[in-house]
Amino acid sequence: MRLWLQPRSLAGRTILILLFGFAVIQALGLGIHTVNQINLARIEQQRVIATQDVIIYRHVAAIAPDQRAALLGTEPIPSGDAISLSSAAPAHDATYPLPLAARQILRASIIGYGIPPALRPRGLEMRGATNPPRYILSFALPDSQATPAPLQPELPNAAPNPLPRTPLVWLSIVSPAPRPEPWRSPEFGTAFIVMSLLGGVMIFWAVRRLLVPVRTLALAAERLGRDVANAPDLPETGPVELVTAAVAFNTMAARIRKFVADRTFLITAIGHDLRTPITRLKLRAEYMDDDEQRLKMLADLDEMEAMVAATLAFGRDIAATEAVTRIDLPSLLRTILDEAGDGMPERAGALSYDGPEHLAINARPLSLKRAIVNLVNNALKYGDAARLRLTQQDAGRIQIDIEDNGPGIPAADSETVFEPFKRLEISRNRETGGSGLGLSIARNIIRAHGGDIALSNMRGGGLRARITLPV
Ligand SMILES: Nc1ncnc2c1ncn2[C@@H]1O[C@H](COP(=O)(O)OP(=O)(O)OP(=O)(O)O)[C@@H](O)[C@H]1O
Ligand SMILES: [Mg+2]
Repeated sequence: MRLWLQPRSLAGRTILILLFGFAVIQALGLGIHTVNQINLARIEQQRVIATQDVIIYRHVAAIAPDQRAALLGTEPIPSGDAISLSSAAPAHDATYPLPLAARQILRASIIGYGIPPALRPRGLEMRGATNPPRYILSFALPDSQATPAPLQPELPNAAPNPLPRTPLVWLSIVSPAPRPEPWRSPEFGTAFIVMSLLGGVMIFWAVRRLLVPVRTLALAAERLGRDVANAPDLPETGPVELVTAAVAFNTMAARIRKFVADRTFLITAIGHDLRTPITRLKLRAEYMDDDEQRLKMLADLDEMEAMVAATLAFGRDIAATEAVTRIDLPSLLRTILDEAGDGMPERAGALSYDGPEHLAINARPLSLKRAIVNLVNNALKYGDAARLRLTQQDAGRIQIDIEDNGPGIPAADSETVFEPFKRLEISRNRETGGSGLGLSIARNIIRAHGGDIALSNMRGGGLRARITLPV
């Protein structure tokens, strides 16, 4: 079942899966980075606040209690902060105790700052508040307790401490603690985008590169199917897997070639060996007394001889490995028409060529000529005319049409006539002769050139054989 959005190509599917995986990894990485950044920024924030608060506290603690209120107004504090002195313990409403980790960091920074023993705070409260987020650090000032509490063990049944305690005086500093913004920095955004793009490009590049051999293999198989004799071997180089595939492919191609060669050899051997007995039979027929029977036998033997000759030619064509050269196609077509005209002067008027003056293509000239000659002969034999038209198609293809004035071919037979020895009844009735190999040979040759032949009936009558060829 094909899923929606599922690409058709292997490359597309692989790229999609890898990109999806890459996106998940990037998202996870981004998440981890964010959590880390937030934690680091919080620690940094707490250190800064602790240091700045302990400095303020030292200033306040160092002066006489009655001057402290006046100092608060002049104490330089960061904007957004607020300081207050209160004789009551700090109120807890709308605040929450800071988590242990935060308290440890704050306490460590305060202790690390180094406060003389006489100025050490009597108490420290660390709380947080939300909306807006802020820290509230409250220090109990050292000398606010005028009479120190006497060391007195508090026994379970002891009377309450009779000595009144001076209430502690608290210095509270409120500092805003905005949420850290881990993605704020432009460097981070740029780096993330560059990383993602690089990853994506690498995935595209690697997958395309990895799949090149698959395309090469498909092309090679296609070429082998078209032209077994001349298809080049795959290079047996590269990574182990490719070498294994190439070796397997080349072995298969060699076996197919051997099989075709054996079959061709068999056909030609039979054809060749039949020639001698046919010649002997012909000689013997000469001695027959019955004239009518003799002539009939000689005609049959002539037909057999022609069939054997055609079979041998067919075998030769399959085995042919002619070299590809650059030829001028219009010249070749005109030569074919001239020769056909010479052979049948009465039809010379029915031969015509229409197309460019010159057009160079790469082809095996003798084979190509044989293929076109076969089609021209058919057109003359069954259709009394041969009109050739050469047109150049886009995308490097040319087209040769061979048209005649004959009865055409029933649509159902337009493919079967390409089979070896296939002839239609009409041609038998017309006693045109022939072995039924012409079209088969022609198609073999044209396919070996990377093209094809198709037959179709024209609207006004007559058959059109269309050759398409890559150039
Ligand atoms: N132009 C045509 N018009 C009508 N029928 C055709 C045409 N060309 C081919 N045919 C039919 O297709 C059959 C096969 O053609 P093919 O060229 O393969 O063999 P052939 O002409 O009979 O023998 P040969 O081997 O001598 O060419 C022919 O026998 C004929 O019936
Ligand atoms: Mg023919």
